[in-house]
Amino acid sequence: MKAKILVNKNFIIDEIDRRIYGSFIEHLGRAVYGGIYDPSHPSADELGFRKDVLELIKKLNVPIIRYPGGNFVSGYNWEDGTGDRAKRPKKIDLAWNSIETNEVGVDEFQEWIKRANSELMMAVNLGTRGPDDARNLVEYCNGDTDTYYANLRRKNGFDKPFSIKTWCLGNEMDGKHQMGHKTASEYGRCAAEAGRLMKWVDPSIELVACGSMFFHIPTFGEWEWTVLDEAYDVVDYISLHAYYGNRSGNTAEYLSKSLAMDEFIKGVANICDSVKAKKHSSKTVNLSFDEWNVWFRTMGEVSKERVEAPHILEEIYNFEDALLVGSMLITLQNNCDRVKMACLAQLVNVIAPIMTETGGDVWVQTIFYPFLYASNYGNGITLRQIKTCDSYKVGSMNVPYLDSSVIYNEEAGEIVLFAVNRSLDSEIELDFVAQDFASSELIEHIELYCDDLKAINDKSTERVAAEKVKISENGTVTLKKHSWNMLRFKI
Ligand code: AHR
Repeated sequence: MKAKILVNKNFIIDEIDRRIYGSFIEHLGRAVYGGIYDPSHPSADELGFRKDVLELIKKLNVPIIRYPGGNFVSGYNWEDGTGDRAKRPKKIDLAWNSIETNEVGVDEFQEWIKRANSELMMAVNLGTRGPDDARNLVEYCNGDTDTYYANLRRKNGFDKPFSIKTWCLGNEMDGKHQMGHKTASEYGRCAAEAGRLMKWVDPSIELVACGSMFFHIPTFGEWEWTVLDEAYDVVDYISLHAYYGNRSGNTAEYLSKSLAMDEFIKGVANICDSVKAKKHSSKTVNLSFDEWNVWFRTMGEVSKERVEAPHILEEIYNFEDALLVGSMLITLQNNCDRVKMACLAQLVNVIAPIMTETGGDVWVQTIFYPFLYASNYGNGITLRQIKTCDSYKVGSMNVPYLDSSVIYNEEAGEIVLFAVNRSLDSEIELDFVAQDFASSELIEHIELYCDDLKAINDKSTERVAAEKVKISENGTVTLKKHSWNMLRFKI
């Protein structure tokens, strides 16, 4: 099949905010304990963090990491994770029915985040706690005054403030699964009040309000509208969460799910703007897609016994999952005018691109690859595309076989095209035209392809890995059936 993409240098969507390549580490299962932190591991550093895991995270070039939850944060007392580690309390975590040792808390995580070359996106507990603890945490992290919480941080060995810029006002507060679940107006009031106090402590911070836990929840829309009606002036972003999966076993339908993500983004942006109009506000609230991934096999798991670091949510990803992750990244890039932050949920062991054995090996899952290339090469300005290609039907929806984003990176002097061929049986011969650029020459074609859509990687075999494709002399570009691709054009 043939397809054509035409872009023009002057027809731009927006500049990509690098924070769309963020991720997420929750105190959940073996994400922290046995994942990033494993003091008895041969590669552990002096704080107990695994250097081999850090090396892979650095390759992914993740600019921001959300922490410490997720559902966990809604029952968390941040003070438990500070100060003398020998004196920290062990507690029950009701979110995942496990035991939290508090060996790692904000004191250690902010050290780890520097080692990961990243930045912290901190979530506060608006479930079992509220504005008071939230503003105290901001003072502990960012305060430079001679006052109790800033002094507590100094006493704990950190003279310089952690300077955390981005803060999430709770997590999925619309869900009944959440500790301290609230109605939209209860949460809206609480978020507005907590946010006001937090910004009074440190006016330089940015705040993310909780949107709906997913698009198809009956309260979607009403929730966003009510929360923003209460908190519009205080918050800077509203969150979106979405997890997709091939529950029906129909791959063609599965690969169309990034269209639902696109619809979700457009819907939330419209709600933000309708509240803006109602309030006659000059401020625009943007979107933080701070949980997204494929997740369905281990959904609903909690630990059967209350133990430390249980093996839960250890989703094993196959090749078709990587294709959808590739398409979801393309969707984020194409919506970069409104989505300013996004977090692949999560980063290590728990619904993650990186897997470890506690005390043992580390390896990468299939979904590692599209993220690796998007984060490292998908930087600059997203261009609008005029696209001609065939499509297929999923219900009444037309799904284009070719999913793509085109990014102009002026600094690197290149155009980068990310493309997923959703067709399960035909390759695509692509004609790419870049108008108003003096010339464009294809210099690299990276492909993620496997004959077997269900192939997985494990610690001993990597069946799915990105590879360089030989560039044809006559310049034709062929995208294999069910493949993910990155094409770099020198300009
Ligand atoms: O990422 C796993 C869980 O998914 C998070 O804790 C929660 O916010 C969401 O439901």
